Amino acid sequence: MKILITGSKGQLGRELAETLPEQGHEAVALSRSELDVADAGAVERAIEAHSPELVINAAAYTDVDGCEKESDLAYSVNALGPRNLAQVCERWGCELLHVSTNYVFDGEGTRPYEPFDPANPISAYGRTKLAGEEYVKHLTSRWYVVRSAGVYGRGHNFVRTMLRLSRERDVLKVKADEFISPTYARDLAEGIVGVLEARRYGLYHVTNAGSCSWHEFAREIFGLAGVEVEVVPIPGSEYPLPAARPANGVLSSLGSPRLRHWREALADYLEREAVLGGRVGGD
Ligand SMILES: NC(=O)c1ccc[n+]([C@@H]2O[C@H](COP(=O)([O-])OP(=O)(O)OC[C@H]3O[C@@H](n4cnc5c(N)ncnc54)[C@H](OP(=O)(O)O)[C@@H]3O)[C@@H](O)[C@H]2O)c1
Repeated sequence: MKILITGSKGQLGRELAETLPEQGHEAVALSRSELDVADAGAVERAIEAHSPELVINAAAYTDVDGCEKESDLAYSVNALGPRNLAQVCERWGCELLHVSTNYVFDGEGTRPYEPFDPANPISAYGRTKLAGEEYVKHLTSRWYVVRSAGVYGRGHNFVRTMLRLSRERDVLKVKADEFISPTYARDLAEGIVGVLEARRYGLYHVTNAGSCSWHEFAREIFGLAGVEVEVVPIPGSEYPLPAARPANGVLSSLGSPRLRHWREALADYLEREAVLGGRVGGD
């Protein structure tokens, strides 16, 4: 299948650009400088030029706190970007797979969120991502929306930040009352291939299995990396940020491809990235 990837220099975009050809697909990987999804004309020209059978939208403005301050930009990229793609995909008869987030939920629930649970975002990032999902669902007939959570790969992420901070401080305070399913971008890319090859349109939740608090995640990172640092659990209220985060950010993978456990994926990531040149510590 000929597949156009937007945001190809992001964590997920990079993995898709490698995984899709490995799985026998032709990938056209376009970075932000090659295709700005917020530019409707540019989207039209790119799809006309490449004639993909499917577009994967891995482009997003993912700085959750930045989205609070720059809500216009967040809306342009996270909502109007998928709107532009949806309109053009529909016109050119190609499928659209849009990537979204657990931050469309408010996190008040006490069990993992099912795909059909009502969304109620509590941040500008979550609101703009939900608006993007809605545009995709309403403007295209052949769509997939894949929500994920706590993604890390080759880029700016929690794992790299923790490892960097551990070189600067002896004690780290990490939130223990927010829960996620950390997800390796490489595994997410493989889950996405599973979704698009099955060709059943609709809404999916794709994360590594299991869940943990950010504190537990940090402890596992340091344990696996052999880093000695004290990790103190704190409530989120002790570390206020511009954007609110859902306390329960765990997604149920009901009806979606199942990925391996997050601990196994993290170990693989740390090993693989070290082999690839020690970039994990490079944040
Ligand atoms: N990261 C997470 O924890 C997480 C969790 C749940 C869901 N997701 C979703 O997963 C998807 C991929 O996330 P990720 O972690 O790979 O994010 P990422 O590493 O921040 O990558 C996003 C990419 O999109 C690009 N981009 C930004 N604005 C653009 C525009 N107007 N046009 C085209 N490209 C643009 C960025 O380019 P620049 O770097 O040049 O800005 C970046 O390369 C997103 O839909 C995100 O919402 C992420």
